Amino acid sequence: MKQIEILGMGIFAPRFVRTNEQMKAFVDTSDEWITSRTGIKKRHVQLNKSVLEMANQAGLQAIENSRIDKNKIRVVIVCTFTSEYRTPSIASLVQRDLGLNENVITFDLNAACSGFVYGLVTASSLLNKGDYALVIGSEAISSVLDMTDRNTCVLFGDGAGAAIISNGETQSAYVAGCIGDDTTLVCKYKGYLQMEGKQVFKFAVKSMEKTLETLLIENKATLDQLDYIVAHQANARIIASVQKKMSISDEKMFMNLEEYGNTSAASIPLALGSMEGLKNGMKIALIGFGSGLTYGGVIVEWRGEKCA
Ligand code: UT7
Repeated sequence: MKQIEILGMGIFAPRFVRTNEQMKAFVDTSDEWITSRTGIKKRHVQLNKSVLEMANQAGLQAIENSRIDKNKIRVVIVCTFTSEYRTPSIASLVQRDLGLNENVITFDLNAACSGFVYGLVTASSLLNKGDYALVIGSEAISSVLDMTDRNTCVLFGDGAGAAIISNGETQSAYVAGCIGDDTTLVCKYKGYLQMEGKQVFKFAVKSMEKTLETLLIENKATLDQLDYIVAHQANARIIASVQKKMSISDEKMFMNLEEYGNTSAASIPLALGSMEGLKNGMKIALIGFGSGLTYGGVIVEWRGEKCA
């Protein structure tokens, strides 16, 4: 695979917010429990449940920030498991709503919390030289939450993040995997999201560590050569545990789950799009893990300044 370059990011967080205190109106919980067990302080909620609306907002901002000619976007992938449509895809409607060229391949991709990493790798493999892809993670997880289940309802939030990418000249290796499972973390049509928290926690720590290690080996790279690591924002304890095991500094490990909670496929682009001080040429490892059970990792290069 070619080196993925990020030319610009966009993010969208719904205006309506629920704090940990406010979650007490739904379930027997406390700010102390949620904060100490997860690191989450609040979550944003898309009241009209529209994944499309959030995808459009984040996508538009990514195009503006990258300053590319939007007619050169040839691939649009929306990573989501909470679309309000079975068909058409959200990506097809983003093509319409953002006025993109008809000469574009559009589809939605469901790899849950690994979605954005899977989406980047897929988009990159479909790109010709000089073309761009728009990869969006957009989730309205509040639409599938059982607000009487304290094991899940306090953890998740809504939002979207989007990236304009192109392929660089050098090669880069990605990591992806799947251990098929429909009991640990599952959401059926007409059902709520259900999760065996402890089992997912163990899988998350193991897969995050293994993915990062393999990513470094496959790319013949060291941790020192990475400027940042952005992992799926599910639980601060998952990230802290890998950080400790691999002796990764706080400065290198980005976290913003305090603000958004777990937003599944939107969590990595929401994090990447919130980072300040990124400079041309910086290398960032993105690590996803989640339902499937899926996991994946890729090293992207920040090229935001190229278009400025
Ligand atoms: O996005 C995909 C990836 N997802 C994840 O990575 C999530 C992974 N899992 C986790 O983050 C953690 O397992 C949780 C945050 C979900 C749960 O933390 P835990 O330390 O594993 O807690 P637990 O499930 O073992 O529950 C401990 C206690 C239980 O009470 P008892 O049985 O000890 O009396 C729960 O009933 O905490 C109770 N509990 C709560 N208490 C207050 C569970 N949820 C809540 C809550 N408020 N919201």
